[in-house]
This record gives sequence, C-alpha cells and structure tokens, in this order.
Amino acid sequence: MKKLAMCNNVLVVFWLLGLWVCSVSASVSYDSKAITINGQRRILISGSIHYPRSSPEMWPDLIQKAKEGGLDVIQTYVFWNGHEPSPGKYYFEGNYDLIKFVKLVKQAGLYLHLRIGPYVCAEWNFGGLPVWLKYIPGINFRTDNGPFKAQMQKFTTKIVNMMKAEGLFESQGGPIILSQIENEYGPMEYELGAPGQAYTKWAANMAVGLGTGVPWVMCKQDDAPDPVINTCNGFYCDYFSPNKPYKPKMWTEAWTGWYTEFGGAVPYRPAEDLAFSVARFIQKGGSFINYYMYHGGTNFGRTAGGPFIATSYDYDAPIDEYGLLRQPKWGHLKDLHRAIKLCEPALVSGDPAVIPLGNYQEAHVFKSTSGACAAFLANYNQGSFSRVAFGNMHYNLPPWSISILPDCKNTAYNTARLGAQSARMKMSPVPMHGGFTWQAYSEETDSEGDNTFTMVGLLEQINTTRDASDYLWYMTDVNIDPSEGFLKSGQYPVLTVLSAGHALHVFINGQLSGTAYGSLEFPKLTFSQGVKMRAGVNKISLLSVAVGLPNVGPHFETWNAGILGPVTLNGLNEGRRDLSWQKWSYKIGLKGEALGLHSLSGSSSVEWAQGSFVSQRQPLMWYKTTFNAPAGNSPLAVDMDSMGKGQVWINGRSVGRYWPAYKASGTCGFCNYAGTFSENKCLSNCGEASQRWYHVPRSWLNPTGNLLVVFEECGGDPNGISLVRRKVDSVCADIYEWQPTLMNYMMQASGKVNKPLRPKAHLACGPWQKISSIKFASFGTPEGACGNYREGSCHAFHSYDAFNRLCVGQNWCSVTVAPEMFGGDPCPNVMKKLAVEAICS
Ligand SMILES: *[C@@H]1O[C@H](CO)[C@@H](O)[C@H](O)[C@H]1NC(C)=O
Repeated sequence: MKKLAMCNNVLVVFWLLGLWVCSVSASVSYDSKAITINGQRRILISGSIHYPRSSPEMWPDLIQKAKEGGLDVIQTYVFWNGHEPSPGKYYFEGNYDLIKFVKLVKQAGLYLHLRIGPYVCAEWNFGGLPVWLKYIPGINFRTDNGPFKAQMQKFTTKIVNMMKAEGLFESQGGPIILSQIENEYGPMEYELGAPGQAYTKWAANMAVGLGTGVPWVMCKQDDAPDPVINTCNGFYCDYFSPNKPYKPKMWTEAWTGWYTEFGGAVPYRPAEDLAFSVARFIQKGGSFINYYMYHGGTNFGRTAGGPFIATSYDYDAPIDEYGLLRQPKWGHLKDLHRAIKLCEPALVSGDPAVIPLGNYQEAHVFKSTSGACAAFLANYNQGSFSRVAFGNMHYNLPPWSISILPDCKNTAYNTARLGAQSARMKMSPVPMHGGFTWQAYSEETDSEGDNTFTMVGLLEQINTTRDASDYLWYMTDVNIDPSEGFLKSGQYPVLTVLSAGHALHVFINGQLSGTAYGSLEFPKLTFSQGVKMRAGVNKISLLSVAVGLPNVGPHFETWNAGILGPVTLNGLNEGRRDLSWQKWSYKIGLKGEALGLHSLSGSSSVEWAQGSFVSQRQPLMWYKTTFNAPAGNSPLAVDMDSMGKGQVWINGRSVGRYWPAYKASGTCGFCNYAGTFSENKCLSNCGEASQRWYHVPRSWLNPTGNLLVVFEECGGDPNGISLVRRKVDSVCADIYEWQPTLMNYMMQASGKVNKPLRPKAHLACGPWQKISSIKFASFGTPEGACGNYREGSCHAFHSYDAFNRLCVGQNWCSVTVAPEMFGGDPCPNVMKKLAVEAICS
C-alpha cells in the first residue's frame, strides 16, 4: 500500500510537470529522430505547391491530389514581391491569397510548412525580393546590413502575425507545423565570411523571437544556430546529417525534376530514381521528405526569374503544370509512401542496423521494442540484378533499387518496379469554327513622345525601368554625310551593340534589322551586323528586353541588364564612330503597354487592322481576338508555335512570356533510370521550342467573349495560334510476373494467403474519358516503352483478349498478370512481363 501511494505521488508530480510542459512548449517539437506532433515522432511526407503558380480555383484539387498521393504536409514559399508590390502596400488577393491557401490545406486535413524566406530563389523574379528594395539608401541584400534586416524583419513579422491572427500555427490549432527563415544561405555565407555569419545568427534569432510555437528550419545552412534545424536540398540527401545529434534528419527539397529555361531542353527525372533516392534517405534514418516540386505550375505574368526561366514551371512534378496526374510518377510515389508508412512504427524507434548483403548490396533493419521490424534491401549496382539472402529468404533486387519489407519478410514495394500506370498526354486543338479572327495593331518603333527623356550616354536597364516593364527603348540619331563611301559601294557599316542582356531588337529608320539574345548561362549579348543607312539623319532605335530578373547568385541584385555599350558604327570614312557617349533618348515600356492594349478597355481605345496585314509576320505587333470558352473541364493552353517571342494575355491577365522561337539546345538521348541523376541527364524537346504551350487557367475564362491579346516582338503568324485541351492520350502498364505489390503484401502480412500472389495491371483514362482500343498488349518478353512497345521473342498469342474484353469501353479496368489470362505460358522458365497500351478517347 505504501509503495502504491508513493507511486501515485510520483504520477501526480509527472502529471503536473506534464501540464506545465504543455503550457510552455509547443505541441510540435523535434528530437534526434523526427519532428514530434503531440509527443509522437512522425515520418512526414511533404510536397511543394506554390500558391501563386496556379489559380485559387485549382488549389482544392491540387491539395486533394496531394493528399491522395500520400502527402502529410504541403510546403510553400511566401512570395514577398507579390505581396508587397510597393513599400507598405500589401496584396493578398487572387492567387496571392495566402491565408485562403493555408486554410484549404487545413480543411483537407494536411499540415503546412511555411517557408517565409523572405528570399526564396525559386526561379522567381528577383528571388522573391521586391525590386524597390534595391533602391533603399545604403541597402545590401542578405548580409549584416541594417536597412535590409529592417525590411526583412518587417515582412517576416507581418506574415507571422497574419498567421497568428488567423490561428494557423499548429500551436494554435492550425496546420502550420514548420517555418523556414532565409533560404540556401550556407554557400552565400561562406563567400561573405564574418558579416554572413552575423546575418545568419541574426536571422535565426529574429525568427525564433517571433514565437510561432513551431520549429524553424534553415535549408543548406550547416551552421544553423539552435534551435533552428539545418536541412538538406538536392537530388539525393542520404549522406546528409544535421549539425547536432539532437536534430532530426530532414530533406526540404527532394528535386522531382528541374526547371525549364528558354533555349534549354526540358529536363525530366525518372520515377524509379526519385523513389530510390527517397528510400535511400529513409533507410539512412531520414524522417521528413519534401518533394520540390509536387506541383510546379506556371510563372504567370512576369514572375519568372532567371533570366530566361520559362513560363512553364512544370518541373516534371508528380502533378503536372495543368493540375493533372503525371503518371507513373504520382502513382509510384503514392505506393512508396504507403510502403514507408507501413514501416513507420519501426522507423521512428531508432537507428537501423546495417547489414552488408554483397559488394553493392546492404540491408537497413529497423526494430522497435514492441516488436515492429522493417527492412530496406538496397542494390546500388546500376548495371545488374542481385539475388540476396536476408533472414531465411532470398530476394531479387533490380539494378539501382531498394525493396521495402515492412515486416522484415515480405516485399511491399521495390523502387524500380512500377505498379502504377504510365500516361501519355496530348494537346488536342479545340474545334473552333473558322479559327480565331485576328486584328492587328502596330507598335511604334520611333516612339519619342511624352514620356521620353534624353541623357548623354547609356543607362542601365533595371535602374531605369525599375522592372515596371520588360522593355526599354534606347534611341539615337546618326548623321551620315553624303560623301560616305559605303553609300556608293553598298558595303553597309557594321553596327555593334554590347548589352548586359537579355534580348535586343535593332531598328534602323523603323525597320527591324536584327535580333540578338543571351541565355541563362550567358545573359550578355553582342549584336554586330551591317545595317542599311542613308545620307542624312538615321534613327537607331534599340529595344532592349529583360526576360526575368536573376533569382540566385552572389549579389544577384546588382546584376545589370540593358545596353551598357559600347555602341559603335564601323566602316565609315572616319573608320569607327563611337555612339556610346552621344545623346540617347529613352522610353520605358511600349506604347501598347501604356494604352493597356491587353485589357478590354485599353484594346478598344485604338483602331485595329484586319485582313491580310495580320499574317505578314511584322515585328512589334499587337494582335487581338475573342473566343468562347470551350465546353468541358479539361485544362486549356494556347499553342504559340507559329509565333516568335512576346507576351500573351487573356481577359487582361498575363499568361506569361512566350518564346517558342528559342529552340532547345542539348542532347536528348536515351535515359536510363539507373545511375546518379543530374539535371542534364534526362532531357526532352531538343531542337524544338523549349516551351510551345502556355497554360490558360479555366477560371480566367467567361462563357463567351474572352479577349485574347498577343504582343509579338520579332514577327509571327497569329493564324497559327490555337486553343488546345490537355487530355490523356493513352495509358500503359508494364508489370513483371510476381512483381511485389502493396495489395499482395497486405494479404500476405495479414496471413490471409501464404503463397505469393500475381500482380494486377491497372489502367485508367482521365475523368470523362474511355478506353477506346488496345494499341498493344504482350505477355512474354515485350520491349520498348509506353508509346513504342514491340513484341519480344516470347509472346502469348492471346495477350489482347482479356484487355479487349475487360477494358474497351470502360473508364478503367484491371487485369491479373497470370499466364491463364493470356492463353497459357508462352515460354516457361523465362522471366516474363506484361506490357499494354490502351488508347483513351
Ligand atoms: C543602379 O542603381 C544602384 C542603386 O541605386 C547603384 O548602386 C548602381 O550603381 C546603379 N548601376 C548602374 C550601372 O547605374
């Protein structure tokens, strides 16, 4: 009795202690192993969805698809320059309605990781920092600088207070379990030295001082001060360890692909390698993984960074730019997440035992005191299969893969074996009676007028435009004496223009004489070409075009753009004439921009021409047309392939910059999932436009009379522009006989069956679509990939039968991958698989 009473006292003390602990510390915390929520260690799967890169109407569906894909957390940056377009004037409407986005995440039952930054990089204009910031006297970005720190603290505090006011931190019952201050600052700090270190300490203290009640992280910041957690970004992060043994191992950016730049090929990352990298991270004790991006979306308007970042920010993410599932990536990761979650009790219990299974093979085994056991069997060999012994069983491991055994016995998942279907997408033109009917308006090339100003010498572009427009005119006069030799010889003088970037159109006496542009790697450009000139006064009008401000690099805010010179004319009687230091007239932006031609009211303020003029491929042309919204729900895009470079608007809202004339350079070879991935490994679109289609959110359209406006810089044929719907073209399954599946694992683990089961092939077209035919089916040793399968030496002659019977006419179907389904085993003792492609219509 006495003993019991003493125990009770101890319990009471613990209970009181517990109350006290709860009242001062957050419900979200962390320890050496994981983020803890209400005292529970959690394996958390997260994905980045940036709210301004889609429309609020798309948000619920994106979040739902993320949830169905097995995510626990949505991660987003906060985009300062979108929220504070001018000092102290805030904007939180439309696709910048951050509170609405966070609340939708909560409604879906997910958590949120708020990466405030407020420097965010993100291939976003100026890395998310407002351009006006640059013009605060004495400012120096992202270092121990008073004016910068004051602005950063003001904005960060503003965001935190907004979240607090709405009760959105987990400590208040909201969804936000984590925040981030700064972004990938480690490499910058290394360059800056002491002021960088001081800034890091200040940023961490400032953030922690805001009292959010949830942990802060700093990514790529090895010296993140306590209690801030340093985290990893990269294609692989299994090698990473946090800077203190009492912090969990977290991966804030697992890159699902890579961004597209105008002029670059389009990168993609195979699902098998992405899954492999995540399994590698988890088996090495990682407990938080965030896909960057889970939905990449669109850089609408002039929000793309760079320079030269494309308007599409698709990123080869599991949800594509248009909000549709990217298969097999989405489904393969969903299966991975379920397999990992089956292991969670063992994973959170402690560090794994590592058991070598061969030269390039090993097992990571997690055990809990309560008896849970989970094993990850890895084959790092990129070239060959491996058969390994583990426990009292044998396991076949494909090259560069990890098998997950949530009970240390049965395989639930292998990273190189796709259970999910693949989908091939198509952009099908919306039938439109007679096509678009275009009208044209010619932009002025000699636009000296009200807002022109004159200076001696050449001005830096960003300092002059403050990024109010992509465009800055540099105009000057050149006097050609009638005695100039070239007037007789016809050997025109060579105009040479050196520009810091990014693109340049040269007009001589109102005629386009040439175009030059840089690239993401080399934004600078040189124009050098013979130009037609006449005796007397010649007007040189140089249109310098910015293509997104830099978002990354040491002191990226100081990078110049525009014509810094010299500008010279060669081949005159006097030899070379330097025009750099003569009088130049400047005009910010286009006349059409000042008139608001992209808007309904502005476009009706001028006379537009019709007829053959439209198709004459003139430079500097505005085009407009109206159209009715196409029926249905498929996502929409405009096909701009017949155009050069410019911007496109729908109902006054900017879809973004287009530039299909900039063809993708690069090598688009065969892409093997096995082996270390990098952003240059797997590329598509070589020799074609880096970006041909431009996403038009459905919610931007009215039922009728939508205004489509295009501004073309170089010359294109608007009659080639069409509206297209994005749909599933065909779906494929590629399944090995005896391939492990989660479903079969559940049956085996629960003891319902005691022998291996056959996998199933699942095929599903998009919503409102049906399987119209089976393009290919082969059970045996088929070769090739979805879209170009062919029969191998072994083929079951009745391979098509089951699919024709069970799938055609249906939205979805599943067929067991067993010989009896295909008329018997075509080649006993050979490892067989099924490959099938079904057409959706
Ligand atoms: C641009 O403006 C900044 C800030 O006012 C100034 O420091 C810089 O020298 C200017 N650059 C040029 C090339 O004029």
